[in-house]
Amino acid sequence: MKRNILFIFTLALILVALENCKHEPKTTIVKTTTTEADSAYIGTKYVIGSNALTFEFPGITNPYKDSLTVEGIQLGRMLFYDKHLSVNGQMACASCHILSHSFADTIPIATNVFGPNKRKAPRLVNLAWEPYMFWDGRQPTIAAQAQDASHNELGMVATNAVAYLQADTVYAKLFKKAFGKAGATVNVNQIYLGIQEFLMTAISINSRFDSVMRGQATFTQDETAAFYAIFIQTTGECFHCHSFGGNYLMANYLPGQTFRNDGLQAATTINDYADAGRGAITGVPSDYGLFKNPSLRNVAVSGPYMHDGRYKTLDQVINFYSDSLKYSPNMDQFIALHIPRDSSGNYLPVGGLHLTTTAKAQLLTLLNDMTDTSYLNNPAFKDPF
Ligand code: HEC
Ligand code: HEC
Repeated sequence: MKRNILFIFTLALILVALENCKHEPKTTIVKTTTTEADSAYIGTKYVIGSNALTFEFPGITNPYKDSLTVEGIQLGRMLFYDKHLSVNGQMACASCHILSHSFADTIPIATNVFGPNKRKAPRLVNLAWEPYMFWDGRQPTIAAQAQDASHNELGMVATNAVAYLQADTVYAKLFKKAFGKAGATVNVNQIYLGIQEFLMTAISINSRFDSVMRGQATFTQDETAAFYAIFIQTTGECFHCHSFGGNYLMANYLPGQTFRNDGLQAATTINDYADAGRGAITGVPSDYGLFKNPSLRNVAVSGPYMHDGRYKTLDQVINFYSDSLKYSPNMDQFIALHIPRDSSGNYLPVGGLHLTTTAKAQLLTLLNDMTDTSYLNNPAFKDPF
């Protein structure tokens, strides 16, 4: 009897154990599924930063700098090249922003889905450090700019774009990874944030100029003359606007110094500027005819030049600074230094730095030194489709 009880008890134990065994794989499966579902919302953190960056560039101004993910960057890259976002399915950001030209356009004024633009599509480089977007700085962040361009260049219809992206399994997965639970259903703002993530990684820091600044290479005599005797001297005045103390972005974005008039447009009164630039945004009289100092990185591959693409070559740009700086009411103080006055003290209409042929050639060499071929050929920036 006792034996029987023991037997039944043991059997019961075994049955319970077996039962548990049966359940165990189930439990495990349930667990795995939960983990997978959660992991679908967790992207891989991506950190922008290297010693070279800390040395050459000041802190990133973009507020999203700490929330980048590998998936968000991939998402942005796809969106940047995807023509489906446009109203006619024929235009993408990349139609006007071409990688081999440092994401600049190759023509003065491109036509968007609504008609001709007003200005030249500029280089996109080191945007994470730029406090203003557009030649007139009318947008504050890359995301705000991407929103502006999605509508005003691509004619994107938000509901159509969202429906297309949500229905695409690759996109849907990337949105989840990039934006966590908030990315489960795509919303239109995430399109702009994704593009912003991609463009924040478009960093150029490997030009010959950088190598020299990092002490890994040395300037030739001509380059030394160009940088130390022209670019950062009153001979050229370039550094006031295209660089500033200890900063190698090759642009001046300091508060109050970002928008300047470099003597490009002749004007007698502020209403004569063909393009009012910053003035049209702020309405402040002293802002008329001012434009954002463009970074000179990759400048050699991204002509035509100036906000209206008026100069085809860098030679022409250098000749402009040398021989045809124009008087206008809002010309920069450093431009004014190079515009002569008549005997009554009135400015003449045209002036210039009056560079020698040698100086011009040296300056051109320095501008060529800003070209970063590793940027222009970076596989991570190429068309993913
Ligand atoms: C039809 C041509 C065209 C298309 C398409 C286009 N852009 Fe642009 N982009 C321009 C032009 C022109 C400017 C300068 C306009 C101005 O300053 O007024 C510009 C300026 C910019 C800037 C400012 C850069 C700076 O340093 O100030 C960014 C960033 C930019 N575009 C990103 C985008 C993105 C993202 C898209 C896609 C959503 C896009 N662009 C689509 C023509 C285009
Ligand atoms: C007072 C400020 C200022 C000075 C000084 C200055 N620049 Fe500029 N530069 C600008 C601004 C602003 C623009 C854009 C103007 C526009 O498009 O209306 C510009 C445009 C350029 C461009 C064309 C960039 C492009 O993407 O189209 C080049 C190249 C350039 N400058 C080189 C130089 C060189 C070299 C010097 C020195 C010889 C110099 N600049 C001096 C402010 C300045």
